[in-house]
Amino acid sequence: MDKNGAIGLIDSGVGGLTVLAKAVELLPNENFIYLGDSKNCPYGNRSREELLKLGRSMLKFLQEKQVKCVMLACNTMSSLGDALSDGFPFPVFRIVSCAADCIEDKSLKSVGVLATEFTIKSGLYQKVIENAMPDCKVFGVGSKNLARLVEAGDLRGDEIRNEIKLCIDKMLSLGDIHDVIMGCTHFPIVLDVFNSLYPEINFIDPAAAQCRYLEKNLKEMNAENQSGGRLEIYTTGNINEFLNMADYLKIKKPDMAGSININ
Ligand code: DGL
Repeated sequence: MDKNGAIGLIDSGVGGLTVLAKAVELLPNENFIYLGDSKNCPYGNRSREELLKLGRSMLKFLQEKQVKCVMLACNTMSSLGDALSDGFPFPVFRIVSCAADCIEDKSLKSVGVLATEFTIKSGLYQKVIENAMPDCKVFGVGSKNLARLVEAGDLRGDEIRNEIKLCIDKMLSLGDIHDVIMGCTHFPIVLDVFNSLYPEINFIDPAAAQCRYLEKNLKEMNAENQSGGRLEIYTTGNINEFLNMADYLKIKKPDMAGSININ
């Protein structure tokens, strides 16, 4: 593996920028190439076949860029399992693999997962957490609209507040829940709205755990870059809107950025 190769990071849209922000902070000497498929976002209500096609097109783009590995920031794509990355010549680290690592208190008896409908229906979050913490009951709720609303960018709008209330109230009716994993990368962008509506709930963003997992794997593979630090950001949508969100999340200015076509 070429240590100097970039780390690819993909998501259905702007959501994965929440992972990129943490990855760049933790690994400032790595080169990163981010691709968000805003044109086809949201992914969470699509079929498995559509997601495989879109996801594999994104991986092909990164293969052409000769990345050394890929972070699958998108929970929905992570839920497709190995079928997505079969045949690609680089390791792919899936955010869902860190579903249990991100829970600090391993003695929890219940935890909620708020994600897209596809992610919840796949049952993968539930399986990973229950394997690592057999006494913990997992309550999953899928949101049809939240990723789309966040992608659209009206972060203080009533629609976002109403969708959050709908989902979390539903979750709280299912069990005694005090901790909720944000199982979709778009959701931490409006963490402040979640916190203001439900100050008693501990909302957990798995992004930091995924970045630590990446760091550990790079060390084990002896693939750490000591002299990089370059950032490229691409979207299939509007690059100016995309960079505004990157700026909002305090991500450093990219060395290269653009709008591209992948399918
Ligand atoms: N951000 C993605 C995720 O983490 C998917 C959101 C969507 O496009 O529906 O699941």
